[in-house]
Amino acid sequence: MSDETGPEALEAGKTLRLLIADDDPADLELCLLSLRKAGIPFEAVSVSTREEFVAKLEHGEFDLVLSDYRMKGWTGMDALAAVIETHPETPFILLTGTLGDELAVECIKLGVTDYILKDHLARLPIAIRRSLEDRGLREARNKAALALRESEERYRTLVENAPEAIVVLDVDENRFVDCNERATLLFGFTRQELLGSSPSRISSANQPDGRPSDSAASEHVRRALGGKARSFEWSCRNSRGEEFPAEVHLVRLPSPSRRLVRGSILDITERWRAEKARRETEARYRSLVDNATHGIVWASEPEGELLHVNPALAEMLGYASPAELLAIQHCDLLYRNPPDRARLAAEFMKQGRVEGTVEWKRKDGKIITVHLNARLAMDPDGQSECAEVTVENVTERIGLEKQLLRAQKFEGIGQLAGGIAHDFNNMIGAILGWAELGIDETDAESRLRRHLEKIQQQGKRAAALTRQLLAFARRQILEPRNVDLNQTAVETLSLLEKVIGGNIEVRANLAPDLWVVRADPTQVEQVLMNLCINSRDAMPDGGSLLIDTTNVTLDQEFCAWQPQAQPGKYAVLSVTDTGMGMDSATMDRIFEPFFTTKGLGKGTGLGLATVYGIVRQHGGFLNVYSEVGKGTTFRCYFPASMEVAAPREKVEDAGPVRGGSETILIVEDHEGLGQLALETLTRLGYQVMLATDGEQAVADFCANPDRIALAVLDVVLPKLGGPEIYARIRELRPELPVIFATGYSPEIAQLQKVQEEGLPVLQKPYSPRDLARKVREMLDLHSPVGSQK
Ligand SMILES: Nc1ncnc2c1ncn2[C@@H]1O[C@H](COP(=O)(O)OP(=O)(O)OP(=O)(O)O)[C@@H](O)[C@H]1O
Ligand SMILES: [Mg+2]
Repeated sequence: MSDETGPEALEAGKTLRLLIADDDPADLELCLLSLRKAGIPFEAVSVSTREEFVAKLEHGEFDLVLSDYRMKGWTGMDALAAVIETHPETPFILLTGTLGDELAVECIKLGVTDYILKDHLARLPIAIRRSLEDRGLREARNKAALALRESEERYRTLVENAPEAIVVLDVDENRFVDCNERATLLFGFTRQELLGSSPSRISSANQPDGRPSDSAASEHVRRALGGKARSFEWSCRNSRGEEFPAEVHLVRLPSPSRRLVRGSILDITERWRAEKARRETEARYRSLVDNATHGIVWASEPEGELLHVNPALAEMLGYASPAELLAIQHCDLLYRNPPDRARLAAEFMKQGRVEGTVEWKRKDGKIITVHLNARLAMDPDGQSECAEVTVENVTERIGLEKQLLRAQKFEGIGQLAGGIAHDFNNMIGAILGWAELGIDETDAESRLRRHLEKIQQQGKRAAALTRQLLAFARRQILEPRNVDLNQTAVETLSLLEKVIGGNIEVRANLAPDLWVVRADPTQVEQVLMNLCINSRDAMPDGGSLLIDTTNVTLDQEFCAWQPQAQPGKYAVLSVTDTGMGMDSATMDRIFEPFFTTKGLGKGTGLGLATVYGIVRQHGGFLNVYSEVGKGTTFRCYFPASMEVAAPREKVEDAGPVRGGSETILIVEDHEGLGQLALETLTRLGYQVMLATDGEQAVADFCANPDRIALAVLDVVLPKLGGPEIYARIRELRPELPVIFATGYSPEIAQLQKVQEEGLPVLQKPYSPRDLARKVREMLDLHSPVGSQK
């Protein structure tokens, strides 16, 4: 028996703390003895009164209480009450002499753990052991219950505070059996309403993929039951019938008796909205980039790898699509001069931005000038930093600027050249005139005659040069009439045969219904000659030369990049050769006077300057296209006049000149020319009055209004110009014949009026013979037949 009640029944090494209530010392001794005998290690505190008992109970921690039933002034039941009140877990064993069965049952009911009859004290150790075991079990059970409560509490808190709505679905009953508060808020149902509902109550009838909710939901649930957690987007509906997108996560819940699936539901309306806004922003941005008029390229720096380009850039560079352009992969290939790129890239790496104008190559090899503006940006995928470069094609603008600059420069040069040429013209006129008079007076065989002829020869060359300068300066006197350029071309072609070598094939392609232009045919001939001679020079080894004419109507758009052009109808005269062509540096300068590539003594560089001046003076403009090694086309645009071409008059043959005795008034401010005219006409028998300025001329005339038979008036004069003098003279002698002499036409408008009136113009420098012939012609025209000498 002692084996059963041995110390092993108690916790090893633990001393049992006992509180013993007994007022009989002998009984107490017996009790302690039996415990010692059973080998139970213990410490006992014994009390005999109720007050002592309560005090000990209050201050000590006891594993067990032993109490007699009947004591002086109190009973074991009083002790039990005190224990239950303060230490309800502590086992309580009643020791008693006698206890009837009824009382025993009553005591057990009240909470006594066990009772021992004093004559059966041997049972005490067993009772102690069992009650301690009971207490241990009870405590363990309590702990487990508490832990369970705690865990449940924690779980509930977790679920209730989750950001998602959570529902638990009983699959077999197809209804929710649990939910958190978030779920009631999200769907607008009470907990009671939600529990017992099926998933269809919180779903839109149809899902975004078009499937009915019921079948879609049962498929998701089936899969979740299969053990695979599932996430998917779901279209939900709340109690007010409003639909909203959600992200649902399903997972099977472990349960032995039921098939449960937990669903967590997250409202993603905001996410959708943000995503939609992002997509819209992106689309807007993309459309901006795609429809930009400027090119845009994103490139990694400093590597220069092309990351993205917009359609405008592909088009600017002649590629069919951005993808085709991207395929070249590297920026380097776009640059005409790769060092340009190195320079810009270095600057960009230093500053994070760079700007510059460079030349790029198109797919077809054409060179364009572009203005680049680069800044640091994210690449289109938002992955890393790169250079974002806007590209503006400024080729046309730069071309226009160049043209404008050239026009301004020419204006300046023209003014200068015109001024000089005007003075030269008069001097050369005098030199030539005197030489001619000298020649007339000398013997044909004499040395002096030969010397004078040399002077005349050189003078003529100087006059030709001056004429070209005047042409460039647009200060020639034009004799415009309605001209058919085809006729001019045909006439020039016959002259060309003499100057163009046999190894060049000359062809003409003339428009049959070419519009008539208002032009001076001699000048147009000059234009054509100069162009053809240049073409000849450009084809030293032969080739072909094409002269063609055509009608064109120019619109505003064309004129926008050809600043000298005005919209309207034009007859175009073109010369095309298959010669050596020109590079752009040469092209930039060809119209400058004295610009030539032909070497000393070969070209004067006035050919194209003359062409330019003549065409411009006719209100037209030029267009040149040339490719090195292939050939050149010059196009001359003359404004169409829409009238009928006049047949060209034959110039009279130079016969001997007759003189006369009439009185002639000559007004000329250039001394050399004035003297020459005086000498020339006096020799022929005329009476000559010479005035050197306008006022003197008018005074002279008024002094002898009836004597004077003809006036030769210089157009530009000090004080009063030729046209003004003419106006005064006319008041006195309306029928008096006059001849205007002029070397250039700064006041073209004035002169045009004179020409319109059909008054004759004598172009300077004139030879004595020209003057004498014109004078006789006018006198004859105005005097009655028979009065001629
Ligand atoms: N058809 C052409 N093909 C190639 N180069 C040309 C052509 N026409 C003109 N050029 C170039 O333009 C330059 C200027 O021409 P321009 O007619 O003004 O002077 P030039 O022919 O050199 O001399 P000039 O005509 O006064 O005898 C030429 O030297 C030549 O370099
Ligand atoms: Mg030339």
